[in-house]
Amino acid sequence: AKTIDLAVLAGDGIGPEVVAEAKKALFAATKNDEVSFELTEYPLGTDHWLATGETLSDETLAKIKTHDAILFGAIGAAPGDTRIPSGLIERELLLKLRFSLDHCVNLRPSKTYPGVATPLASDEPIDFIVVREGTEGPYVGNGGVIREGTPHEIATEVSINTAHGVHRVVKDAFERAQARPRKKLTLVHKHNVLVNAGHLWRRTVEAVAKDYLDVTWNYLHVDAAMIFMTTDPQRFDVIVTDNLFGDIITDLAAAVTGGIGFAASGNINIDGTAPSMFEPVHGSAPDIAGQGKADPTAAILSASLLLDHLGLSEAAKRIENAVLADMNARAENPAPRSTQEIGDAIVTAMGH
Ligand code: IPM
Ligand code: MN
Repeated sequence: AKTIDLAVLAGDGIGPEVVAEAKKALFAATKNDEVSFELTEYPLGTDHWLATGETLSDETLAKIKTHDAILFGAIGAAPGDTRIPSGLIERELLLKLRFSLDHCVNLRPSKTYPGVATPLASDEPIDFIVVREGTEGPYVGNGGVIREGTPHEIATEVSINTAHGVHRVVKDAFERAQARPRKKLTLVHKHNVLVNAGHLWRRTVEAVAKDYLDVTWNYLHVDAAMIFMTTDPQRFDVIVTDNLFGDIITDLAAAVTGGIGFAASGNINIDGTAPSMFEPVHGSAPDIAGQGKADPTAAILSASLLLDHLGLSEAAKRIENAVLADMNARAENPAPRSTQEIGDAIVTAMGH
């Protein structure tokens, strides 16, 4: 039997609760396949930092690099928790992983499910994916502050966009668009204002489009794109965009398709030089942590993306179908359920 060697980083808050359910779903989905899992848990996150001072050391990073893939929960301390500097764990753990493991494609599908209420007037199905660049933009920490605390303070965050970095995500997005029935790609940027980066993105899309003549593409400024995302999200198929725009629009995308509790993501290393990492889009939700209130669906769907990435597309589909069945079940009986009850129901829907 093939062994899949996974690193598990459950993290903070509701992370461990939802990851426990995602693991159950992984096992159930692959029960009849010739695969088994070897799991290594890494207790990284806020508590680990408080106890040891480690966010993510180079030694730990080297160990994480040896696995086939990473299942990630959520990280982040409660707002107002003064024991840890704000954003430290985000930058030194999550972003360090994305950067060091070269997760250039941050893949974020958005889909409506039958029976799941959305805030939109129309219940026409929505099904698009966002290919968010994951290693560049203003996330790289290229900036600084001078004359801090004075009325003349200047603070900068320079957005880095390299030809190589833009080209590889644009190409990936075209590949994904070509594989989908509608074959549509939308570049979202703001090149009327961000002329330098905007034009690099635009020129790159124009050039790559020549190799994908069956894909139709268009361009939208990010502000206008957000109007369409609330008035006509059905128009989108594949969206390609930079790291910061992608962060913001995927929260809106999750909200319009039924909530952040269902939004899964994959941080993909496209040439297999390091493990890819799969995580729910939501955060650690410290306000509901430890109460069994978190919906594990986003983590479970992230496990499905993980299986698909590892070439186990049938097992991935099993999870997706089980989630779909569970969505229908909750439409019929909307009584609140615990994290574990939802996980159990999804496992049961897989026939176990
Ligand atoms: C996300 C998160 C992260 C991001 C934070 C926690 C650094 O919001 O995965 O969308 O901005 O990418
Ligand atoms: Mn975000």
